[in-house]
Amino acid sequence: MSRLLYDENNLPDISTLKAKNYDNVNPDEVEPVKRIGILTSGGDAPGMNATIRSVVRAGTNSGFEVYGITRGYHGLWKGEIAPIGMRDVSETLQRGGTFLMTARSKTFQTDEGVLKGARMLEVYGLDALIVSGGDGSFKGARALARIGIPIIGIPGTIDNDIGCTDYTIGYDTAMNTAMDCIDKLRDTASSHERCSVIEVMGRSAGYIALNVGIATGAEVILIPEVPFDFNTDVVRVILDGRNKGKKHYIVIVAEGAGSATDIAKKIEENTGIESRPTILGHLQRGGSPTLRDRTTASLMGVHAIDCLLNKKFNRIIVEKNGVITDVDIEEGLATTKTIPQIEIDNARRLS
Ligand code: F6P
Repeated sequence: MSRLLYDENNLPDISTLKAKNYDNVNPDEVEPVKRIGILTSGGDAPGMNATIRSVVRAGTNSGFEVYGITRGYHGLWKGEIAPIGMRDVSETLQRGGTFLMTARSKTFQTDEGVLKGARMLEVYGLDALIVSGGDGSFKGARALARIGIPIIGIPGTIDNDIGCTDYTIGYDTAMNTAMDCIDKLRDTASSHERCSVIEVMGRSAGYIALNVGIATGAEVILIPEVPFDFNTDVVRVILDGRNKGKKHYIVIVAEGAGSATDIAKKIEENTGIESRPTILGHLQRGGSPTLRDRTTASLMGVHAIDCLLNKKFNRIIVEKNGVITDVDIEEGLATTKTIPQIEIDNARRLS
């Protein structure tokens, strides 16, 4: 049975469509799914393997046939699809990265690419698709949902920047990795009486920077959500610290707020204090996932399978106030979030 609502001859502009909302749909009137696919997309995040494992284990135990799609949407439209069984996911829970691999597919950003992907799902007889990734990956999933493919999104990105969920898989591991690196940088900054300026990831959000800054006792935290004045918020803070006897300084810069290289140069020019930039970069995306990421990935994977079993399609699995639940994908992608002011104020009170 084809679930596709359109073919290449009558495909409307997908951006004008809405994915079907299953909130008030009677499950008895919905065709069940039997064979499902999973892919990981966008930047990898520690815990993606735990997500795949959970979907495979919970899905197989619930009677689904599970197929793995390699290289994200790129592999989908190219038909890189194969069955994936219980044994294939042994020893993956603790591994960083994603063994299905990932990609940022340009083709899939076009309506033709989305249709190609949907066709490939039909070729393999896949009734539904689970997507682990961030905002961009969910937009791809939403496009598929809009043309009739049942989808489920599981948030996987170190940035924690998906509006509809309090937490994204990979965020905790990335912060712990950054914290360990900054603790080491503090040792050398202290020995040389230097200022260490550290750039962390987060795209246009400052979640990683703010929390890692609190955890490492940074003197200055620069995030894109809060405009800053270089003289008062950086130079003055460092000089006041020096005048009170401080011997070294940690400045955390979210990548969306500026460049560690430029800021270190300006600090040295303005304060006379030797400054060194460090860009933590992709280090933050690697490594074995923490307990938080392993458990969240595992429980979100089970919840995704429950949605499919209950014929509740086109959902994003979210964590809200500590509870794992799900929201409609159109609503979810229209939701925005920002760092609460109290967290910003508290960080200031600690510097
Ligand atoms: O979204 C995750 C992320 O690591 C961002 O923090 C960063 O801006 C971006 O991906 C880097 O992307 P790439 O791996 O393509 O360089």
